[in-house]
Amino acid sequence: MKTIETNRLILRSWTIKDVHDLYEYASLPTVGPNAGWSPHQSLDESLSIVHKFIKEDDVWAIVEKQSLKVIGSVGLHNRSDSQEKLNREIGYVLSTFYEGQGLMTEAVIGVINFAFDELGLDIIFVKHYIDNDKSRRVIEKCGFKYYETIISKLFNGIEKESKVYWITKTDYKKNKEEQQ
Ligand SMILES: CC(C)(COP(=O)(O)OP(=O)(O)OC[C@H]1O[C@@H](n2cnc3c(N)ncnc32)[C@H](O)[C@@H]1OP(=O)(O)O)[C@@H](O)C(=O)NCCC(=O)NCCS
Repeated sequence: MKTIETNRLILRSWTIKDVHDLYEYASLPTVGPNAGWSPHQSLDESLSIVHKFIKEDDVWAIVEKQSLKVIGSVGLHNRSDSQEKLNREIGYVLSTFYEGQGLMTEAVIGVINFAFDELGLDIIFVKHYIDNDKSRRVIEKCGFKYYETIISKLFNGIEKESKVYWITKTDYKKNKEEQQ
């Protein structure tokens, strides 16, 4: 994956060496369940996820420039059968120890810029569980608009409402013009 650089972060491809950093945050009870997966139980489980990230090549490791530590992930996933518009779904998690500094907002804005300016996408979707206010704020601050409410199944089988948002290339360009 092409490396993306923001003020405080480097978004780059995963390597096997990142497994310890991944396990450190993916084993926390506050991370995976808010994104739809259960906390990692072992280093081996994290290793299999690193292998998956490397194979599928659609998730960046979020590296904090200051410490060079991997503190989260952000991905652009092809979830749609529709060929009409080039669209992807963005998903992200951050280590709980790094929350509240605007880091994920910074990472997501970096990915949005890359997706529209370099990948030539038409639409990016994103969703959060109805009670995930922190993610809702990231989404709002990145300029997404509400699209629909759906029912998602959690890893434990429980169903929960999710709010889906989107940003189109047209909205993206308009937001950029307004910021100038
Ligand atoms: C959701 C998440 C990505 C937010 O990342 P972040 O870097 O903290 O995002 P920001 O710093 O931009 O903060 C977003 C909002 O959450 C609030 N927030 C962040 N951490 C907080 C904390 N510990 N306590 C209270 N509020 C907090 C911020 O105040 C901010 O709201 P504001 O802009 O109105 O002030 C991160 O908490 C996370 O990965 N959580 C676990 C997994 C997850 O939920 N992934 C998203 C799935 S849809």
